Amino acid sequence: MAQYDVIIIGSGPGGYVCAIRCAQLGLKTAVVEGRDTLGGTCLNVGCIPSKALLHATHMLHEAEHNFAAMGLKGKSPSVDWSQMLSYKSDTIATNTKGVEFLFKKNKIDWLKGWGSIPAKGQVKVGDEVHEAKHIIIASGSDSSAVPGADVTVDEKVVVTSTGALELASIPKTMVVVGGGVIGLELGSVYARLGTEVTVIEYLDAITPGQDAEVARTFQRILKKQGLNFVMGAAVSKVSVKSGKAQIEYSLRKDDSAHEMKADVVLVATGRKPHTEGLNLDGLGVSLTKRGQIAVDNHYRTDVEGIYAIGDVIEGPMLAHKAEDEGMALAEILAGQAGHVNYDVIPGVIYTHPEVGSVGKTEEQLKSEGRAYKVGKFSFMGNGRAKANFAADGFVKILADKETDRILGCHVIGPMAGDLIHEVCVAMEFGAAAEDLARTCHAHPTYSEAMREAALACGDGAIHA
Ligand code: NAI
Repeated sequence: MAQYDVIIIGSGPGGYVCAIRCAQLGLKTAVVEGRDTLGGTCLNVGCIPSKALLHATHMLHEAEHNFAAMGLKGKSPSVDWSQMLSYKSDTIATNTKGVEFLFKKNKIDWLKGWGSIPAKGQVKVGDEVHEAKHIIIASGSDSSAVPGADVTVDEKVVVTSTGALELASIPKTMVVVGGGVIGLELGSVYARLGTEVTVIEYLDAITPGQDAEVARTFQRILKKQGLNFVMGAAVSKVSVKSGKAQIEYSLRKDDSAHEMKADVVLVATGRKPHTEGLNLDGLGVSLTKRGQIAVDNHYRTDVEGIYAIGDVIEGPMLAHKAEDEGMALAEILAGQAGHVNYDVIPGVIYTHPEVGSVGKTEEQLKSEGRAYKVGKFSFMGNGRAKANFAADGFVKILADKETDRILGCHVIGPMAGDLIHEVCVAMEFGAAAEDLARTCHAHPTYSEAMREAALACGDGAIHA
C-alpha cells in the first residue's frame, strides 16, 4: 500500500494542474486516471480536439472566401475528412503526452484505473488501496440529457460533443439541440464543412448568460455564415429510423408541434458533474441540489481530508476555472494562501469571430442598479482587422460611472479570446478604463480596439 500526501482523482485541467503544483510545493502526489491518456475531457474529447477542427475548418473558410480577393488564386482545397481527424488525433496525442512528461518531470505517480474512496484517507484503484492525507476529487463532468425529453444518445446518429468529434463522415444535415458554447463551436465546424446546420434553442437568445448585445451580434454573424436557428423551441423527442434522425420540438410561443429530419443530431444542452462510482454516498459527502459536490471556500467537502475542484463543484464548467482551483488548493494544502478571484474568470467561444468576455454584463449591471458607462468600438475602425477580413464585431467595456473602474468587457471579433486578457489583468489590478486608454498599444494590432473602447469610456475613441 503506497502512502501519499495527496491523491487526486481525475487528470483533467483541474486535476493535473493541481498535481503539478502539489509536487512543486513538495507534496508526494499521485493522480488516478482511468482513460488510456491523461488530460481528461478537455485534452481528449473537449477543448483541444474541438480547437483543432475549428482551426482546420477556419483555414478552409479563408481559402474559400478570402484567398481570391487577396490574389491567392487556384482551386479551393478539398476536404480529406480522415486526414482532418488524424490531425485532430495527433493534436490530442501531443498534448496528452505533454502532461505525461510533466508528471514524470515532477515525480507524480499515475495510478491507472478508475478510483473510488472506500473510506477517509483511502483511494481504491483496481484491487489496490492507496493511502493519502488529502484526497482531491477532480472527476469532471459528462454531457447531460436533454431535460424532460426522450432522447437516446448512440454517439453515431445522435451524438454528444464526444461523438461529434469523430463522425464517420461529414453529414449533409445536422440539428444541434442547444445554442450554447458546444453547439455553436461544433455547429460552426460542420457548417464550414458544408453541412446544413440548424440550431434549436429553448431560449430566445443564444449563449445564455452572455451580454445580450454580443449574443445578438453573434447570432447575426453565425446566420450570415450559414447556420440556421429555431429559437424559443423545446426539443421533446429524437428518434432514429433507418439511420436518420427525426427531431420533434414545440415552439414555446404557441405550443405548436414541429418535426425535422437530420443525418446527425448533436445534443449540447449542458453538462453535469461526474461523481458516479466514487462512493460519495457511503462517505456522507454532501451534494448541492444540482448534484455538484458541496465545498467551502477552501474546497473542503464536509468529510475531513476530502476536497473537490473543477466541474464537479459549483461555478462555470471551464478548464481554466478548474486549473485555478487546482493551483489554489495545492497552495492551501502546502500551507500557503491559495485563492481564486471568481469575479475575473474569462469566458471564450472559439468560433470565428471569437467571443471573449469577463466580469459583468450590461444586463447584470442593470439588475444590480449600478450606474455604469459603456465604451464601445467596432472592429470596422481597426486597420488590422479590415486588412484581414476580420472587421465584424466590436469591443464593449463597462466601467463604473463615478469611479471609471472597469466592471466588465465583452468582445466579439478577431482573437477576442486573447484580447480579453488585457482586461482581466486590468481588473485584477482594479484598473480604471482610463488606465487602459492611456496604455500605449502597438499599431497595427487588434488590441488597439480594446484601447479605443477604453477611450470611448472617456473623451471618445479616435477612429470611431
Ligand atoms: P450550455 O449550458 O452552454 O448551453 C446549453 C443550451 O441548451 C442552453 O442555451 C439551453 O437553453 C439549451 N437547451 C436546453 N434544453 C433544451 C431543449 N430541450 N431544446 C432546445 N434547447 C435546449 O451547454 P453546452 O453548450 O452543452 O456546454 C456545456 C458546458 O461546457 C458549459 O458549461 C460550457 O461553458 C462548457 N464548454 C465551454 C467551452 C468554452 O469555454 N469554449 C467549450 C465547450 C464547452
